[in-house]
Amino acid sequence: MKIIGIVGTNSEKSTNRQLLQYIQKHFVDKADIELVEIKDLPFFNKPADRTLPEPVKALAAKIEEADGVIIGTPEYDHSVPAVLMNALAWLSYGIYPMLNKPVMITGASYGTLGSSRAQLQLRQILNAPELKANVLPDEFLLSHSLQAFDSKGDLTDIETSQKLDAIFDDFRLFVKMTEKMSHAKELLKKEAENFDWETLN
Ligand SMILES: Cc1cc2nc3c(=O)[nH]c(=O)nc-3n(C[C@H](O)[C@H](O)[C@H](O)COP(=O)(O)O)c2cc1C
Repeated sequence: MKIIGIVGTNSEKSTNRQLLQYIQKHFVDKADIELVEIKDLPFFNKPADRTLPEPVKALAAKIEEADGVIIGTPEYDHSVPAVLMNALAWLSYGIYPMLNKPVMITGASYGTLGSSRAQLQLRQILNAPELKANVLPDEFLLSHSLQAFDSKGDLTDIETSQKLDAIFDDFRLFVKMTEKMSHAKELLKKEAENFDWETLN
């Protein structure tokens, strides 16, 4: 199973990136997980001719080819980071790599809530007509993330790592189920292709 892990931050030092790196290492026997950075994508500027920057095309191609996507999001002011919204805007501008794509959301925060509000917001964003991903209902929230890892980058709390194991196993099943849920896929794709925010009344 090929999974793309999107690092939803442009911070050099990030516990969300650490969490994705842990997931990549910890589940190496269960999935081939490639982490991708979005920090160097240009700012979305709605190019009139819909010409996409090369790094956006490369990211979209990786997502198209993958069986599923994990998105790791920090929370800033109850929202997803601007850099993550930026990537999603590009990924919905005349291209549809997220359509029907199974997505697992993870999030880490220094405080108690583990990015819960950003995760909820991300679900809503991923339901937009040109994204329309299939998001796993389970959420994985890592609170007090600065204290969550040992020197080897492993999660220290057993209950937390067991929860992540269980959610990841659910996600692998969810990927398989989503593959089978293909009846409406072409129809939804046509709908997304015909949808245009700028010609709506
Ligand atoms: C401007 C700013 C706003 C923040 N807003 C929130 C917030 O709304 N909720 C929250 O749980 N943490 C908030 N935090 C703390 C973040 O969880 C923490 O700084 C960090 O970004 C966690 O992710 P990271 O280690 O991947 O960078 C905020 C931090 C900053 C600098």
